[in-house]
Amino acid sequence: MNSDTPLVLLHAFPLSSAMYAALATELRPLECDLLTPDLRGFGNVPLGTDEPSLDRMADDVAAVLDDRGSSRCVLGGLSMGGYVTMAMLRRHPDRVAGVILLDTKAGADSEQAQENRLRMADKVLEHGTRALIPMIDTLLGETTRRERPDVVSAVTGWVNAAAPEAVAWAQRAMAARPDSFDTLRTVDVPAAVVVGEEDVLSTVDDAQSMADAIDHPVPVHVIPRAGHLSAVEAPGVVASAITEVVNRSV
Ligand code: MLT
Repeated sequence: MNSDTPLVLLHAFPLSSAMYAALATELRPLECDLLTPDLRGFGNVPLGTDEPSLDRMADDVAAVLDDRGSSRCVLGGLSMGGYVTMAMLRRHPDRVAGVILLDTKAGADSEQAQENRLRMADKVLEHGTRALIPMIDTLLGETTRRERPDVVSAVTGWVNAAAPEAVAWAQRAMAARPDSFDTLRTVDVPAAVVVGEEDVLSTVDDAQSMADAIDHPVPVHVIPRAGHLSAVEAPGVVASAITEVVNRSV
């Protein structure tokens, strides 16, 4: 692969690039650079004053590439990071040399799901991120929750570290996202889909329907004993799936 073409991995909601530490270790043998930018409002990146929109986050990713002088990247995103990946495919398709969609889905929200997000946005602004703690049960697979208290505790810390304003902004942005199946039909670069077998937020069926929408054969890697945060729960297996796409991308 061209050495100017980095691998860029976008994090989930309401986390930050901290979630990719273990995966980054597994990906060390890769010859390309790995970038795990924080999406706006998360980690150390300011939220800014734009209206909530995943398109703004996609433009931020394009700006990261501009800053390092890279015309293209292999782009992967987990859940919200996947929604931003699909926004990037819509807005900046020529910047994407390969795609990895992890624990995400291409459909837009139902009306009910949108209402839940807007309610959660208001609640977090009023009560702080502790309103998100029940969400941890859905982020991690039941095996991880039962057997790996260290992972539960790390994820709880990351959720607690999120800024309420960023959480509310991202919920509103995700509520407004469009259906992305037509976008996936335009993908003509190497791709893979990854999903935790125990993911209850973006299911194996969601994963398969994204792969089916892409007009060339796309492997679906179902990760055993992992939930929604497959890259955190099973970084070694997920690294292999990502490496395969990087090696196929030119
Ligand atoms: C995520 O992990 O990024 C969220 O589950 C995305 C969402 O709320 O749809």
